[in-house]
Amino acid sequence: MQYNADNTPLQHVDEWDEFVATRYRQGKSEEEFRDYKADANPTVTEFYRQNHAHQTLDFVLSKKAEYCSLSRDKKSIWEMAEYLNTLVDDSDPDTDLTQIEHLLQTAEAIRKDGHPRWFILAGFVHDLGKVLCLYGEPQWAVVGDTFPAGCGYSDQIVFPEFFAANPDSKIPEYQTEYGIYEPNCGLDKAHLSFGHDEYIYQATRRYLPEEAQYMLRYHSFYAAHRHGAYRHLMNEQDERMFEWVRKFNPYDLYSKGRERPKTQEILPFYQDLVSDFFPDRIAW
Ligand SMILES: [Fe+2]
Ligand SMILES: [Fe+2]
Repeated sequence: MQYNADNTPLQHVDEWDEFVATRYRQGKSEEEFRDYKADANPTVTEFYRQNHAHQTLDFVLSKKAEYCSLSRDKKSIWEMAEYLNTLVDDSDPDTDLTQIEHLLQTAEAIRKDGHPRWFILAGFVHDLGKVLCLYGEPQWAVVGDTFPAGCGYSDQIVFPEFFAANPDSKIPEYQTEYGIYEPNCGLDKAHLSFGHDEYIYQATRRYLPEEAQYMLRYHSFYAAHRHGAYRHLMNEQDERMFEWVRKFNPYDLYSKGRERPKTQEILPFYQDLVSDFFPDRIAW
């Protein structure tokens, strides 16, 4: 697979998360929301151009084959979190959160609201799939709003015009409403654009309850969980479980930028939590 010469338009993959948080800023009017492109700086725009152009059905299938067999590595959750923390850039150490701090902050916000332990744990692991960056994957294959490949693109996806450059848009079979899928086949049968959601879902699914699996797998599927798109592919189970995806989303969006978590103080709680659900090492 040939990638573009410049696969790193974002200074850091978290720049995408920050753009999404801006898009859904609390109290934003409908009109302001529709003007999301005003908040997208040139690097974010270029990132979406690449993401929408390169995430073909073939690409998704090849990345699932490569990573979802989990035959790459065996590491504990903590080892993976430490590894993810090495994803550094020229961010300001005084103000910017580390990757582990973002995870802890998300989890702590969930804990403060009195949610069950598995929900807190989902917050703690939800972005570990970003280690795909450290495996050498381009930013457009790690982050970004996800969408199903192999069927028509919803206009609820940001920057829909960039799909014109996706080779799949020239394949008529992939461009009908259902494309290669059956009506209400269930999202498990759909191949969403590849990224950190699918990878963390696959790595942790056997240890977490189904609600948490949905939170992890679909947390970047904004067209569906925020805008109601792709219901024609969803089955009743998806409809029920998306309640939880929607419950999770604000903790991911609005946890950034609040005060730094007191890591040393809260660590014992998270050590217990992780070992309650996970064995010492899991397959990645
Ligand atoms: Fe994420
Ligand atoms: Fe996140």
